[in-house]
Amino acid sequence: MNSDEKKQRVAKAALEYVVEDTIIGVGTGSTANYFINALATIKHKINGAVASSNATAERLKSHGIPVFELNSVDEISVYIDGADESNKYLHLIKGGGGALTREKIVAAVSQRFVCIADDSKLVDVLGQFPLPIEVIPMARSYVARELVKMGGKPIWREGFITDNGNFILDVHNLEILAPVELEVRLNKITGVVTNGLFASRPADVLLLGSDNGVKVLD
Ligand code: 5RP
Repeated sequence: MNSDEKKQRVAKAALEYVVEDTIIGVGTGSTANYFINALATIKHKINGAVASSNATAERLKSHGIPVFELNSVDEISVYIDGADESNKYLHLIKGGGGALTREKIVAAVSQRFVCIADDSKLVDVLGQFPLPIEVIPMARSYVARELVKMGGKPIWREGFITDNGNFILDVHNLEILAPVELEVRLNKITGVVTNGLFASRPADVLLLGSDNGVKVLD
């Protein structure tokens, strides 16, 4: 089974975690897109969705799923989204698609965060995947210099603008042994909007699509 087939498998399995008659949060990326396809088959069972990106909002609408602005909803029952890496504590690296800030906001609001991924995303130590950091454009060089001082190798994702009008720095060479501490430290650099470590608010459940079915970690 290739990784796309595993993503489709896990996306379908996530339907079990959808809470009926509520508004759910929906993430961004190829695995989340497979989830939206699956969600469309049970769309009459939910009240609607909050999207973590403009692309996801468009995709939800194209399937006839009502999309709500976050400021107009009181609560989100469950947030379903992919990840670039996860460790066994369900600390994640996210933001490969550049939607990390809105993803982190929707995850923060949600009662439960169900992460869906193919089994290649489970790692012992986070950091093989370059850590995305969203920065205010005028602070890009300053933030990059601060990241170099911390031992990272930041690469500007040139030509990419986030939904919030900002830039992304992808930080290579990090061996992330203390994700919660690093998440806090990075967010303290002036000019950083947020970073792609989801450790202070990790996933609650990780579903991994594999050749043998779907493995559940919680
Ligand atoms: C987007 C994300 C995605 O969840 C992450 O990049 C995984 O993507 P995919 O499901 O395509 O492998 O964080 O900002």
